[in-house]
Amino acid sequence: MKQIWLLVLILNISIAGIVNAQQKVIKDADLLKMAKKELVSAAKQYNFLKTQINPDQFPKAYFPENDSLSTSNSSWWCSGFYPGSLLYLYEQTKDASLKKEAVRILKVLEKEQFNKNTHDLGFMMFCSFGNLNRLEPKEEYKQVLLNSAKSLCTRFDPKLGVIKSWDSKKPADFLVIIDNMMNLELLFWATKVTGDSSYYHIAVKHADNTIKNHYRPDYSSYHVVNYSKDMPGEVQRRHTAQGYADESAWARGQAWGLYGFTLMYRATKDEKYLNQANKISDFILNHPNFPQDKIAYWDFNAPNIPDAKRDVSAAAIMASAWLELADYTNPEDAKKYLNNAKEILVTLSTDKYKAKPGTYGGFILKHSVGHLPAHSEVDVAISYADYYYIEALSRLVSKI
Ligand code: GLY
Repeated sequence: MKQIWLLVLILNISIAGIVNAQQKVIKDADLLKMAKKELVSAAKQYNFLKTQINPDQFPKAYFPENDSLSTSNSSWWCSGFYPGSLLYLYEQTKDASLKKEAVRILKVLEKEQFNKNTHDLGFMMFCSFGNLNRLEPKEEYKQVLLNSAKSLCTRFDPKLGVIKSWDSKKPADFLVIIDNMMNLELLFWATKVTGDSSYYHIAVKHADNTIKNHYRPDYSSYHVVNYSKDMPGEVQRRHTAQGYADESAWARGQAWGLYGFTLMYRATKDEKYLNQANKISDFILNHPNFPQDKIAYWDFNAPNIPDAKRDVSAAAIMASAWLELADYTNPEDAKKYLNNAKEILVTLSTDKYKAKPGTYGGFILKHSVGHLPAHSEVDVAISYADYYYIEALSRLVSKI
């Protein structure tokens, strides 16, 4: 038994040595050069993407098997990612044609500020108008964002203490998905600019109930929690829609939670959210199915690992979240988060994951999974993978 432990110890030391050696191989100066180069090539690719769509449409995904680009109208939950990516790329490259295209498409998106049928207004309006208003604040953009925050709040049930994600035909249902954590950033912004704390309190209530009801003891999360409209405080069912199984850990859901609780800590400075983000990180990083190249399988419990599809979108979200979380945590964890984020970005920037210029309809990254159980958008390029990759590269540039 002693010998086995000795062997395990020696193996661990040598694996740690290889990982450390690998991490040291890429110097910060080279990383900075790489990130800047990737942002310039991403900007070129998005200049191509803008020629591939009709004026009132938003790029959604690219399907390599039949060389087709899918688009959506403004009400689809992903409509903010295209303008958001253009704006990040404009910020990094100062290519004015990107901003022009973003401002043009925002006119098409603008009406969604009054859309009360979706919880995705944070994704749709804050990734887009939020970025434009950050770069060039204007009363007009502020009003759009405030109306969006108000529309989002109409979906909050004060008795249940959560914002409704999906509508249901059954009156007792109140469906909340983990993704909804991402929409809370818009509410914190609204409190900051108006001084009205009601947005802040809604975000905090939602996050607290998410910790209570969405998370398992190992800090993995369910995808969907169906609260009971009839019995406040009760949960009817916990299940999945986009993951492999009700009890599995859908990769993008884990990434949304990681990013969501990181932004909760940024907004509130409440240690419980930092703890949550750290624990989610532990779950991901210590999971036996987290691959060596850090590009997560679409579900941590997918049955055919190591042959299961990767989800590049989950990897990009994780990288961006870890680059921020590293600022809030102790030096040891910070180093771990930064190294993992850097490894993800380096890997995503290789030919294996990055589309060649002028291909993939103008998208940047290949190999994301949208909704595998519905056979929808499996192993494709997808707008939100590009958005969080660009955001993460921008965060990396600002750190080095
Ligand atoms: N529903 C958002 C997502 O697919 O992650």
